[in-house]
Amino acid sequence: MPDTGLRPDAPLPAIAPAGEVVVIGLGYVGRPLALEAAAAGFLVTGFDLCAAAGRTAEAAWQATGRRGGRLRSTSDPAALPPAATWLVCVPTPLDAAGRPDLSAVAAAFATCRARMPRGALACLVSTCQPGATNGLCRAALEQDGWRVGRDVFLAVSPERENPGDAQGGPRRIARLLGAPDPASLAQARAFWDRVTDTVVPVATPEIAECAKLLENSYRLVNVALMDQLHAAFAALGVPTRDVVAAAATKPFGFAPFWPGLGAGGHCIPVDPAFLQMEARRAGAPSRLLDLALAANEARPGRVAAAIADAFGGSIEGRRILVAGVTYKPDVADLRGAAPVALLHGLRGAGAEALWCDPLIGDPPPDLAEIPRVAHPADAAPDALVLGTPHRAFDLAALARAAPLVFDPFGLLPADAEGRVRAV
Ligand SMILES: NC(=O)c1ccc[n+]([C@@H]2O[C@H](COP(=O)([O-])OP(=O)(O)OC[C@H]3O[C@@H](n4cnc5c(N)ncnc54)[C@H](O)[C@@H]3O)[C@@H](O)[C@H]2O)c1
Repeated sequence: MPDTGLRPDAPLPAIAPAGEVVVIGLGYVGRPLALEAAAAGFLVTGFDLCAAAGRTAEAAWQATGRRGGRLRSTSDPAALPPAATWLVCVPTPLDAAGRPDLSAVAAAFATCRARMPRGALACLVSTCQPGATNGLCRAALEQDGWRVGRDVFLAVSPERENPGDAQGGPRRIARLLGAPDPASLAQARAFWDRVTDTVVPVATPEIAECAKLLENSYRLVNVALMDQLHAAFAALGVPTRDVVAAAATKPFGFAPFWPGLGAGGHCIPVDPAFLQMEARRAGAPSRLLDLALAANEARPGRVAAAIADAFGGSIEGRRILVAGVTYKPDVADLRGAAPVALLHGLRGAGAEALWCDPLIGDPPPDLAEIPRVAHPADAAPDALVLGTPHRAFDLAALARAAPLVFDPFGLLPADAEGRVRAV
């Protein structure tokens, strides 16, 4: 008898039916991937602890009107089919102490191991620290004696999606793919070749993991640089966006970044902390990354301080409206949103802070406690800050909506009265 690696009392796995896929986590990343896999003809089961996320994914699939594949969802792990391919797309936030929290990935891989049949592939899509695939994920799959590369297969393909991108969809973005062994890589490639146009295999899982973290660390450092230089160019009386546009005509060695209120969301201010955690463990932390993380976190506070300066040092009792509160334009996502941090900073300094945002329906509690107005014109504020430049805003009207208007983005048109200030 060949050694199957299975414990004698382990339940016999079913044979994986070709074409069945389970997507664990149906959020910003998992839902589009589930839709793309269904569109490619796979029979997709989405699994999310939140049943509403499953219903949203099913409705999105029905709205496509596409045939061929299928997308259904469940929040009951016992209802998961013995699929051939398992994609893990669960959140990887920082905990309250700023440390990476991989508990959802651990739980998702435990679900995979409990339900996946022999011969199936589990692919980590969530952003994790270097070594997570070969460490935590492999250990979860091998805990009952199965071996990765023999009984089950494992790969990592970190998501590179850009939420809110009008050209959206996972198919168009090249997919990095790393695996611990050739059999896993081959199986993962066979899947991804059907749902994406370009697969980029790399030699190890750690290369794929580090490449994802490098991409977002590079963005964070450049975002932090531009946010600081925006203040410097403003002090020099030079319009930042014209400077960046001019520099961007150089055909090599320069990639444009634009000023703002600071990077938010689940990725750019978070992923570098995953890299730092492992770099620190290896005795080689990056001081520049620490500075960029700190500068990004401090950005809303610096804007609040600049506003206070403009009012002679205090904003106590000033009515200040923040226009746009999501972490990026045209996306109704408040995770790590710098404008929300700014609102709390303004309140903390004694201002009467207000906000408006046409993209937000019911705000979460930390925002609901701050007064909201439907339109900037309803607020009669002492000052307005452009928090997020949604397309729905009339920027020229915003620039006239208060006696003082603060622009961290360099987007608002200057006016004859000099009310618009770059910050
Ligand atoms: N949002 C982005 O733009 C983006 C881009 C690239 C990479 N990423 C990475 O992708 C991963 C997922 O991010 P997201 O933005 O889709 O998160 P999300 O919060 O939008 O969605 C995650 C979903 O997973 C579900 N979930 C949590 N734990 C679960 C579990 N144990 N079992 C089943 N479902 C579970 C949640 O209910 C939620 O619906 C993260 O690692 C993130 O850093 C996100």
